[in-house]
Amino acid sequence: MSLTVYAPASMGNVGVGFDLLGGALAPIDGSLLGDRVSISSAETGIHLSLAGHWADKLPQDPKENIVFQCAEFFLDKLNRTDGVKLVLEKNLPVGSGLGSSASSVVAALYALNEYFDRPYEEQALLRLMGDFEGKISGSVHYDNVAPCYLGGMQLMLDAPEKVCDAIPTFDDWYWVVAYPGISLSTAKMRDLLPAQYDKSVAIDFGRYLSAFVHASYRQDPKLAISVLKDVLAEPYRASAIPGYEESRSALSEIGMLTTGISGSGPTLFSITDNLQTAQKAQAWLDQNYVETGKGFSHICKLDTQGTRRED
Ligand code: HSE
Repeated sequence: MSLTVYAPASMGNVGVGFDLLGGALAPIDGSLLGDRVSISSAETGIHLSLAGHWADKLPQDPKENIVFQCAEFFLDKLNRTDGVKLVLEKNLPVGSGLGSSASSVVAALYALNEYFDRPYEEQALLRLMGDFEGKISGSVHYDNVAPCYLGGMQLMLDAPEKVCDAIPTFDDWYWVVAYPGISLSTAKMRDLLPAQYDKSVAIDFGRYLSAFVHASYRQDPKLAISVLKDVLAEPYRASAIPGYEESRSALSEIGMLTTGISGSGPTLFSITDNLQTAQKAQAWLDQNYVETGKGFSHICKLDTQGTRRED
């Protein structure tokens, strides 16, 4: 038996929901923006090989690769003595703010769970994904693994029975994402944030996030955009992302509705409901934000399917 799994890129935070909101991404031109993991049988041991555009940035010792560690965990947990052959196709840059580590972890654990006849149900598998991703990013937060696994826009609940749930989305929004080409560590970008916030900031954060969720249910895009504000992370991270602040202003002049940092950056996202405006924004970003040959940009919709088998 052999199978292949695709796990889409994702935006953590989505500006307004630090650690609590995340969206999965699907480029409208159908191009691939997510990692793939293939699994097949081996007599014994774990054999991992790497493929894909961004594979050379990964540790060369397979044992240091999180996909290898996911397989080790599964074989140990299920007391298996046979082995597996894995191929990780690394299609997302590490440290990009596009949920690159989440994509590898989710694809690997989903593939292993399918291969071994689903020993984990959905929520238990999701918790496992959060734990493994936390090993790489330095802390457990589900805002990348949840949308990557389940698709759409996911709100973290962290309730005993449910890690997260999908909220309604604005189907005519285009999400322009641009990755400039540098790598930023999530752990370091988290260290830039203050340990404590003022009461007024806490109230603004609660108001903006609850108003955004409310607007999503009401399908009121104007309200949603007006409250899509990041008071927890952007004020402390923006200056650590070269060109972000200038891009934000330029995108607003082009007519984009709002712009924010995807995850911990350096990828930015910018929203519009007009395809021509999205194309103008993309052209500007390619010219001014993206380093040729190193970065990229895409016009996306939300990926509603999440992780899936491709075989
Ligand atoms: N919520 C996380 C952060 C996402 O902003 O640190 C990291 O991709």
